[in-house]
Amino acid sequence: MKALITAGGKGTRLRPLTHTQNKHLLPICNKPTLHYALEKVAEVGIREVGIITNQEGIEVQEAIGTGDHWGVHITYIPQDAPLGLAHVVRISQDFIGGDKFVFYLGDNMIVGGISRFIDEFEKQGSNCHLTLSRVKDPERFGVPEIQGDRIVSIEEKPDKPKSAYAVAGIYLYDNSIFEAVNAIKPSARGELEISDAHQYLIDQGKKVTFSEITGWWKDTGKPEDILEANRLLLEHTEAKVNGLIDNQSLVTGNVVVEEGAQIINSVVRGPAIIGRGTVLENSYIGPFTSIGDNCRIRNSEVEFSIVLNQCTILDVGVRIENSLLGVASRVVRADSRPRSNRFMTGDQSLIEIC
Ligand code: G1P
Repeated sequence: MKALITAGGKGTRLRPLTHTQNKHLLPICNKPTLHYALEKVAEVGIREVGIITNQEGIEVQEAIGTGDHWGVHITYIPQDAPLGLAHVVRISQDFIGGDKFVFYLGDNMIVGGISRFIDEFEKQGSNCHLTLSRVKDPERFGVPEIQGDRIVSIEEKPDKPKSAYAVAGIYLYDNSIFEAVNAIKPSARGELEISDAHQYLIDQGKKVTFSEITGWWKDTGKPEDILEANRLLLEHTEAKVNGLIDNQSLVTGNVVVEEGAQIINSVVRGPAIIGRGTVLENSYIGPFTSIGDNCRIRNSEVEFSIVLNQCTILDVGVRIENSLLGVASRVVRADSRPRSNRFMTGDQSLIEIC
């Protein structure tokens, strides 16, 4: 069995962060999102992994490398234009050859492994095995119509969903999928939809089966999803202190303090992670917060947020909450007169002040 992992796309809903960084490299719990997909496929013994990148994919290649870190061999497959997920499968046919494979969307996060899904796929002798997750907003996803224990239809982002399930971005296929992705036509948004390929398989009488994801699943396409995935992953993190915590500080709950980090006269309430070389001084870090490497936080409070590497937060009088700060962002108090708020923001930034 091989694996195909997506790492292209534009990440428009995550701008401005994605102006300078591929969304699959944005860290959740201080680890690039794409690492989680690689860990899941390596864990089940898959050794041959194809990663689909966009034309500017060199940054993914530079960040991920040959795959040695996970004991896998990675082949990078560039997609010329964002023509849809079924197009991704189409251009990967040579890489897959005659093997069965798992198609894993690199921005999808789940807790627990994928071996249960592979076992079901094999046991049931399926041509295609889908993973379903019950969601509040199925209209954002591919949605199955289920009768008894069978999927009878699948629609992509329907106005009127026929079930409360999303088809999650972890799919198992045999070679029949290539017939499907080569037969379907682009949708109204100009993409070859993976849901249309699944519908084609159903129409051809192929065996399309499914498993329900019972733990949590997240498609991290939007800032709130990333914060939520960060929260859920931190909940499963164990405390580990490799940095320094001085006597005036109080660190409670599951907190990871990475090497070279310093916590001075501060309160950290876990679960939280404080990255390498980061210095916290007279500050409060609240639950569900990931602070990246080499940040400086002084006289400030941060909770339920992700702060990427090299950020500076100094003397900010109001607690920063529910926020995502891009690499090397600075949030500082200005002492000069007249007192005013001054912004130096990138395109499509969001600032909410109180
Ligand atoms: C894609 C698929 C959709 C699936 C979703 C899962 O949507 O088209 O069928 O439910 O991934 O993450 P997208 O994230 O591209 O909107």
